[in-house]
Amino acid sequence: MSTPLVSRQRGPDPGGGAGEVLVARDITKKFGGLTAVNQVSLTVRDGEIVGLIGPNGAGKTTFFNCLTGMETPTSGEITFRGRRLSGGADRITKAGLARTFQNIRLFPFMTAVENVQVGRHCRTRTGVLSAVFRGPRHRREERESIQRARELLDFVGLSRVEAELARSLPYGDQRRLEIARALATDPGLLLLDEPTAGMNPQETRDAMLLVRRIRDTGLAIVVIEHDMRFIFSLCDRVAVLVQGAKLLEGSAEQVQADERVIEAYLGAPVVGAPVDGASGDAETRS
Ligand SMILES: Nc1ncnc2c1ncn2[C@@H]1O[C@H](COP(=O)(O)OP(=O)(O)OP(=O)(O)O)[C@@H](O)[C@H]1O
Ligand SMILES: [Mg+2]
Repeated sequence: MSTPLVSRQRGPDPGGGAGEVLVARDITKKFGGLTAVNQVSLTVRDGEIVGLIGPNGAGKTTFFNCLTGMETPTSGEITFRGRRLSGGADRITKAGLARTFQNIRLFPFMTAVENVQVGRHCRTRTGVLSAVFRGPRHRREERESIQRARELLDFVGLSRVEAELARSLPYGDQRRLEIARALATDPGLLLLDEPTAGMNPQETRDAMLLVRRIRDTGLAIVVIEHDMRFIFSLCDRVAVLVQGAKLLEGSAEQVQADERVIEAYLGAPVVGAPVDGASGDAETRS
């Protein structure tokens, strides 16, 4: 199979800076008196894996929610490939941001392949009438959508379960299925919220290899994780959130060695984080 992930929707960067996929500037999100995200800026470039770490309640998921239109930032600006992002989640998905959720959100009574097809939906053009009467365009799009969904299931290693209901899949497979569904939107940026949460060590290793393979197709990725081995062996850059604010941002080595990070979050340095996709089962959740 050829590289199935290279976006067919977006060409080269039309307006942003060199290879900049996403630029979030001074994003703040307040819930009443609580500032969940406090003036956080983040730039993501083509082909990068950026890690977002921080203690529970630091604002990581809220930041993703702001990027993906699930929450409206109280202030700040987000541009995607040089264009300002606005509108709700559907519009932002269409613009090219795809995500997975900390708590898996699949359609439990739909099959694996159908769940991936749902992701395709934002790229199909069939109007309501054509869909209802199953016109030629609808039939063609349906065929293409199934084929694409199968390619993506193959890519994430789930071909064997394509006809099984999502709810019957083991936990690790459900997380992979969510990634396949996100990829089906032809994203320019993939946001993963704790992709290894609840996984056993073998599933975690497999997930790490999968994320690396996705990046190798050129897609930019931002990943929230509490598994520090995962973060430090995979990410080109790591940003640390504490109490809603960005404490620092740097290479895995810089962040790992920073005294404030060790104190605020890690507790102890992660020694010998592997670079070959092997992961231990260390979970540095606070
Ligand atoms: N819809 C909401 N209404 C009110 N408060 C919220 C809402 N969503 C999040 N919060 C609060 O914002 C803060 C940040 O939460 P968030 O879920 O973003 O943290 P997180 O860094 O993702 O944590 P975790 O690692 O536990 O997933 C928390 O104090 C949380 O209770
Ligand atoms: Mg979270």
